[in-house]
Amino acid sequence: MKKIIELSVLALDQENEKRFKEQFENCLKYNIKDIHYDVMDNEFVPNKSFMNLEFLDYLIDKGCNISVHLMVADVEKFVKQIVTKKVKYITFHCEAEKIEKSIEIIKYIRSKGIKGGIAIKPSTNLNDYKELIKMSDKITIMSVEPGFGGQKYIDGSEIRVNKIRELCYNDTILEIDGGINDKTMLLCKNNINHFVTGSFLFNNIEKFEELKKILN
Ligand code: DX5
Ligand code: ZN
Repeated sequence: MKKIIELSVLALDQENEKRFKEQFENCLKYNIKDIHYDVMDNEFVPNKSFMNLEFLDYLIDKGCNISVHLMVADVEKFVKQIVTKKVKYITFHCEAEKIEKSIEIIKYIRSKGIKGGIAIKPSTNLNDYKELIKMSDKITIMSVEPGFGGQKYIDGSEIRVNKIRELCYNDTILEIDGGINDKTMLLCKNNINHFVTGSFLFNNIEKFEELKKILN
């Protein structure tokens, strides 16, 4: 499976639409088209981001491959809006819902032709979510506490990645999210398919090709 680097939109300026578009146009010059769209509701996490889905429409229009990461308490509400759009993946936090409900939501996402799965916080007990780990098409493994960009990679997150790989199928897409840079991405290289990077890639955009080469 090809290893993919996704740019987190959190690195872009969501307060200023014009600026956001300029920043994104610059990313396009470097051929960055795999985008990680972080939605935060200020309830599941103490921060708000990209609840305005117009940004999502803009990125879809630009031909991006979008992976949505929902950090929200009311998962269903957001999923219902987002499945109407041309996104590739939706992951939501397993901690936000009861297991039965999460199973239903993953099935619903899939019924719309989108790959679905869970996102997992750094301290969540994996044994509690074995069933969801097994049924996910894609899993977002947090290597920081969700809520803010620019945090430091939690040491040992790669051990968790290896454990999750043992609990899922070989073709399940595993994504690592938080504090990923040219060094931390190598720690979990073997078992990760998608590497999310916000601040590092945005500040070192000219290194994009080089990073892809390191991984593939
Ligand atoms: C954090 C978000 C991440 C974050 C990554 O809660 O889910 O996607 O934006 O940003 P960096 O790479 O700066 O840690
Ligand atoms: Zn994210």
